[in-house]
Amino acid sequence: MAVNLKGRSFLTLMDFTPGEIRYLLDLAHDLKAKKRLGDQTEMLKGKNIVLLFDKTSTRTRCAFEVACLDEGGHVTFLDPGSSQMGKKESLEDTAKVLGRFFDGIEYRGYEQKVVEDLARHSGVPVWNGLTDVDHPTQILADMMTMEEHMKKPLNHSKVVFCGDIRNNMSYAWMYGCAKMGIHFVAYGPSELEVDQEIVEKARAEAEQTGGKIEIASTPDCLKGADVIYTDVWASMGEEAQIPEKVRLMTPYKVTMDLIRAAENPDVLFMHCLPAFHDFETKMAKEWKEKGYDIREVEDEAFRSKHSVVFDEAENRMHTIKAIIVATIA
Ligand code: CP
Ligand code: NVA
Repeated sequence: MAVNLKGRSFLTLMDFTPGEIRYLLDLAHDLKAKKRLGDQTEMLKGKNIVLLFDKTSTRTRCAFEVACLDEGGHVTFLDPGSSQMGKKESLEDTAKVLGRFFDGIEYRGYEQKVVEDLARHSGVPVWNGLTDVDHPTQILADMMTMEEHMKKPLNHSKVVFCGDIRNNMSYAWMYGCAKMGIHFVAYGPSELEVDQEIVEKARAEAEQTGGKIEIASTPDCLKGADVIYTDVWASMGEEAQIPEKVRLMTPYKVTMDLIRAAENPDVLFMHCLPAFHDFETKMAKEWKEKGYDIREVEDEAFRSKHSVVFDEAENRMHTIKAIIVATIA
């Protein structure tokens, strides 16, 4: 059956069928090839999109901007300091106004309910640029990167996510793997309270697709991994919890030994970025001075032949372009 995503919001991969996700991945691969050939066709000519960021960003913001401009569209960027949203104007009213001006709205912030409400009230497609519980555009880019590097299809692969297994990336992976029939393992401290509702939802979906969703805290789960993935231990807004997180998550830091435990010479190391892999950032330095090593991955592993982190970063743009084009062009 033909896939038509025109007018659809992109709030979570759970809203999409495996066929629709496949369509977006294929479109992203095509758009990447076209960009390389200089063969862009202004599919977004005459379209206006707005980007709302309640949290900071490098990749997601730039990916949306470049993707839209590449195809001839226009972009407006609003950060928390420069709009009335939530302060002098309700979310509902803001959504209704933005829906009159723009063909699509990107939002990054805290609660998932905000992207849902924006979609409900604006009447135009809303794209989730990260919330506390999901980061679906990142997963699409990561799957595209896996397809570029792996010698096997997604549904024959195993992804092990190490560290903060109760964060937005871990949950987004559960949904993505469940949809695409991937074996997913969340490998982290048993003390962490993983949201059981999310796990159950992902497991029910995985039953339909041949995927598997596991939670583990011992390193035997690394064996046979095709992807070792990690993310910062303290997500945006959680910085005060760093001492406790370092204590809990240090055993799950990605090192060369951890990568070797996959027993797969072709295993990929992946990370959504930004990453703490050395002490070249203000935050890593400041915490080091206080006695905490906040690196979730060692520099050697980050720079190893297994690492495809910058391909993932590039693919944010191609996959986000696919999402924009599929939903509003
Ligand atoms: N991976 C990612 O979302 O990066 P940014 O926070 O820079 O957008
Ligand atoms: N878990 C991280 C992801 C950043 C892309 C955060 O929310 O800060």
